[in-house]
Amino acid sequence: MTDASRRGRLSGRVALITGASRGIGRAIALRYAEEGADLFLTATSRPKLEETKTLAEAQGARTVLHCADVSERSAVEGMVGAAVAAFGRIDVLVNNAGIYKAARLVDYKAEDFDRIMKVNLYGAFHVMQFVLRHMQAQKRGKVVNIASTAGKWGSSNQSAYNASKHALVGLTRCAAVEMGTYGINVNAICPGFVETDMLEALREHASILGIPSEKVIEGILARVPLKRFMQPQEIAHLAVYFGSSESDGMTGQSIVLDGGMVMA
Ligand SMILES: NC(=O)c1ccc[n+]([C@@H]2O[C@H](COP(=O)([O-])OP(=O)(O)OC[C@H]3O[C@@H](n4cnc5c(N)ncnc54)[C@H](OP(=O)(O)O)[C@@H]3O)[C@@H](O)[C@H]2O)c1
Repeated sequence: MTDASRRGRLSGRVALITGASRGIGRAIALRYAEEGADLFLTATSRPKLEETKTLAEAQGARTVLHCADVSERSAVEGMVGAAVAAFGRIDVLVNNAGIYKAARLVDYKAEDFDRIMKVNLYGAFHVMQFVLRHMQAQKRGKVVNIASTAGKWGSSNQSAYNASKHALVGLTRCAAVEMGTYGINVNAICPGFVETDMLEALREHASILGIPSEKVIEGILARVPLKRFMQPQEIAHLAVYFGSSESDGMTGQSIVLDGGMVMA
């Protein structure tokens, strides 16, 4: 049972959030808690996930944790089953788990390419497939896929990541077409550079280019009209909109949130 006394834009909703242990996923979990949602939070490792749970419970959210690697289909099936067993339904799915590795295309190790696709693309596919089966039966639901500006344009040293995020944008559009008649909205958020652990990858990028990280950051910010990186909470604000009834008229969209770097 959800607590009806908790008011907010997501009051009475149950959200399954992947990659909720830190960064953007944690920020979304805490904004969702603030807006009245109950939470089923997942990641591969437990300690940081426990920290998110403590913070979410301080906002009054009923919170259940589950550790699973989204690239493992059977683990995902168990994870979605556990969410339904815990709450009886899933109203919002936030597909946020993701990894990054910088390398030039000609040097990219096939096993690294494979791993990024397995987590960023197949992971989202597995979770969506099992959750959408429940949402179809419920005849309502919201899916929020965390893609990237890398799903909208090309850039150096990120071919696998870029390919995975372009594919996630495509998956979002196809799911939106198939799910519309069930009252299910499927949208994506395409963040630009967000201050999380993932930004450490800029160091790899700088070392491949043979320049200091500061130069890479300078080069990026020169292309960002707002002249700063995004904060995880800014992505979470948009995720609240996509998880709430305010976005009932929107589906199949992939919205860039990046300080104006990519206008697409
Ligand atoms: N930061 C950026 O600049 C940026 C920009 C655009 C898009 N994004 C996207 O935003 C999402 C979140 O990124 P972030 O910056 O918050 O990254 P982050 O701080 O590195 O966090 C990644 C999250 O994903 C989880 N995760 C990683 N591999 C997983 C797996 N195989 N199965 C389940 N969970 C897994 C991690 O949990 P564990 O450590 O416990 O596994 C962690 O909770 C990603 O999809 C990323 O591509 C980020």
